[in-house]
Amino acid sequence: MLVSAKEMLDKAYAGKYAVGQFNINNLEWTKAILTSAQENNSPVILGVSEGAAKYMGGFNTVVGMVNGLMETLKITVPVALHVDHGSYDGAKAAIEVGFSSVMFDGSHYSIEENITKTKEIVEFAHAKGISVEAEVGSIGGEEDGIVGKGEIADAAECKLIADLGVDMLAAGIGNIHGQYPANWEGLAFDALEDINAATGETPLVLHGGTGIPADMIKKAISLGVAKINVNTECQLAFQAATREYVLAGKDLPENGKGFDPRKLLGPGYEAIKATVTEKMELFGSINKA
Ligand code: 13P
Repeated sequence: MLVSAKEMLDKAYAGKYAVGQFNINNLEWTKAILTSAQENNSPVILGVSEGAAKYMGGFNTVVGMVNGLMETLKITVPVALHVDHGSYDGAKAAIEVGFSSVMFDGSHYSIEENITKTKEIVEFAHAKGISVEAEVGSIGGEEDGIVGKGEIADAAECKLIADLGVDMLAAGIGNIHGQYPANWEGLAFDALEDINAATGETPLVLHGGTGIPADMIKKAISLGVAKINVNTECQLAFQAATREYVLAGKDLPENGKGFDPRKLLGPGYEAIKATVTEKMELFGSINKA
């Protein structure tokens, strides 16, 4: 059964490890992540952007697919199905059809409007036992057509949003979605320390988990990060494995039945499993289910 992300993240925050949010794009992705979580006895969060939800046939299709897989694969570790960078209406729509956690990203509004809208989502979601992630200070880079400048969040603003009772808070600390440029300055740890001090026990979320060096990930966890989002790295692993298979000609009809999508997508599936396991090791969530 899907669970809210609150309990797993409160435990992670207290235990100084992080739960991975891995974004899903299709059935293979979802199955690979759920299977890895179960094999590693790790809690996990499945992230679904509004664009990915549309691609997969809508929030209701995603809920049906995830619930079905959980039952068939006998998944017993805690799993949260979470909207990634949800709009106000999108977050509400996902809750209505069975998501167990939502992010409402109000970072592009004024802080006043972000507060008003986040408060409403918190009331709506908490009445149904659904966890809420809010955001202050946009994450840089581009994700699903949403472009952020990569600001450093203001600690006082973070406190205002945390005080609304959100279950987790994404605060920009120089992190960006996608791959980091060669001249990236790294995470702003001073800002993270101030934000963690200002927001009490609220678990902090690090977006843009792809390409952040292991030592920075560990330091971020020591300063209150309890959820780390990874998307691009799984996409790249899937792409590289599929490419290798195709370049080797294994998909060609004259070389056998390798064109069958169940075979063609197999190497990508295994590559995602390996990536997810590697991240769970780095984040410290193995055997924390
Ligand atoms: P990456 O694609 O950089 O891993 O970021 C994922 C993310 O933050 C999803 O919200």
